Amino acid sequence: MVEPADIDALVEEARRAVAGAGTTEEIREVASAVAGKKSALAGVGRGLGALEPEQRKELGRRLHEARAAVDQLIEGRRAEITAAELARELAQSRVDLTEFIPGSVPAPKARGHLNLVTQTQAALEDVFVGMGFLVEEGPEIETDWYNFGALNIPPAHPARGMWDTLYLDLGPPESTLLRTHTSPVQIHLMERAVAQGQLPIHAVMPGRCYRRDTPDARHLPVFHQIEGLVVDKGISFADLAGTIEVFTTAYFGPDIHSRLRPAYFPFTEPSAEYEVTCTICLGSGCQTCSQTGWIELGGCGMVDPAVFDAVGIDPDLWTGFAFGFGIDRCAQMRHQIADMRVLTDNDLRFLRQF
Ligand code: DAH
Repeated sequence: MVEPADIDALVEEARRAVAGAGTTEEIREVASAVAGKKSALAGVGRGLGALEPEQRKELGRRLHEARAAVDQLIEGRRAEITAAELARELAQSRVDLTEFIPGSVPAPKARGHLNLVTQTQAALEDVFVGMGFLVEEGPEIETDWYNFGALNIPPAHPARGMWDTLYLDLGPPESTLLRTHTSPVQIHLMERAVAQGQLPIHAVMPGRCYRRDTPDARHLPVFHQIEGLVVDKGISFADLAGTIEVFTTAYFGPDIHSRLRPAYFPFTEPSAEYEVTCTICLGSGCQTCSQTGWIELGGCGMVDPAVFDAVGIDPDLWTGFAFGFGIDRCAQMRHQIADMRVLTDNDLRFLRQF
């Protein structure tokens, strides 16, 4: 005959067994042993049927409470074990990601951009390419012949005074110098065209030039020009003036126009100075343009027959025009830059604006 005290003893026994379980496997075994179908408590339940109704009711209630208590003990322990096992697993699978980080990565370098002069050169080339010109280049170190002689400027001619030249070597056999303008590239192109039988010529020639000038607001000793040369049949001064005007409005915009004023250059006849509407006052007159409303950009004219003779082109068959003007001056006029020296000063506050 089962007594309530026996039930208490079974609960006490279960408590100890449950406390001793340390793994999921062990708690499963303990649970089956103390609360399963074959457990002592289950056995008590099966014996209830043989009791008197009064006793059965009393013992049944005690048994029910005991089983609930044991179930609670098991679930509590199971939760503890699961938590501990999870914690152990996490600790074992911990990965130190910093082991995979390569050495410190430097901050990305700030990206620069082309200098305004280079941008201007590209923009000018674009306009002329759009008009059908090729872009050509020539050497920055020239002989006296290419820079002067072939351009109809003989030694000791007073016209040489127009260029303050930096000589590298005063011959013999011939002086070499830093070119004072891009006009000598005309000579190279015409010589090549004659040698290869490839006339006509429609080309622009941008590049760096040098003069023994003291830098000031409108002069740099190292500066840039773009030269133009057309050699073809039946070319007239009207072609030159039209080309210059189309270029001017294309590059500076519809408010800016060109005018050609008679001038002298040894390698063109007739020659003209090429001027554009002052971009500061738009022609009404200001300090920059000395109240004239116009700014000089360069020179131009019809190729002198003496130049054709120098390169072996028949001036009775071919005619042509040429022009040359300052790229730095164009940038200055288009962006209203008061002092040209900022173009080469490397002051980022200025350069970043373009
Ligand atoms: N080479 C001249 C200079 O630097 C500019 C020039 C004038 C170029 C007339 C030309 C030209 O092609 O026809 O002052």
